[in-house]
Amino acid sequence: MDHVGKSAEDGRALSAQPEDERHDPPADLPPPRRATLRDGTAIVIRPLLVSDREELARGYEELSETSRRRRFFSPPSRLSDSLLDYLTDLDFDQRFAWAAHLEDDPDRRGVGVARWVRDRDDPTKADAAVTVADRWQGKGLGTQLLIALVEAAVERGITAFVADVLWENTMLLDTLRDLGAHVRPSEPGVARVEFDLPTPGSEIDGTAIHEMLVASAAAAS
Ligand SMILES: CC(C)(COP(=O)(O)OP(=O)(O)OC[C@H]1O[C@@H](n2cnc3c(N)ncnc32)[C@H](O)[C@@H]1OP(=O)(O)O)[C@@H](O)C(=O)NCCC(=O)NCCS
Repeated sequence: MDHVGKSAEDGRALSAQPEDERHDPPADLPPPRRATLRDGTAIVIRPLLVSDREELARGYEELSETSRRRRFFSPPSRLSDSLLDYLTDLDFDQRFAWAAHLEDDPDRRGVGVARWVRDRDDPTKADAAVTVADRWQGKGLGTQLLIALVEAAVERGITAFVADVLWENTMLLDTLRDLGAHVRPSEPGVARVEFDLPTPGSEIDGTAIHEMLVASAAAAS
């Protein structure tokens, strides 16, 4: 299995198309949130800022080859300047990203990132991606980032996330369909899956979007 779910937006970013212009972050950034992992570790989830650029590059360098492949279509060996520009160019309306660090880490080293990019043609949809540093995987951080990501999206009028899944993943596609996801053709061999977003505050377990995270986590191990 080559990949489980991918963000088509990343594919475009990695082809490093020149950006028209940078987006301005709003004066009123979304407030940070606290979360607790399964092992009791306290985490801060806060907006990703331009000043996180170096930390993002460092975190990527520490990411295993497997996690890089699961996250990006064709992972580069390092994040180029243009890709770092793209990943930190956030207005928190068209492009949104959360960064996570341990609450008691004075250096605030990043342990996870979650982002969405609003679809250019349908502003009610967004491409979403979650990445957790390898040594912090399997502790519930991916789920906490996903919950924060969904809430931020719903608050901004997004009703569905999209991801690409290989048609050969028939069991996963059947499960996602059973959970209400919409599946349609994308590129050859690839299905575009749309996940309706759960209402903030409702359980994320048992939703199609959570099932997608579980499948990505299992594939990365
Ligand atoms: C996918 C990813 C973000 C998940 O992050 P995480 O912090 O490990 O996720 P969680 O600990 O919250 O676990 C999420 C679910 O996956 C399950 N899971 C975690 N690791 C697993 C593993 N190795 N095998 C099977 N299931 C696993 C968990 O049990 C949990 O399911 P549950 O809520 O039903 O118990 C992380 O593996 C990652 O960064 N992978 C590389 C990038 C990627 O694939 N991103 C997704 C596509 S953009």
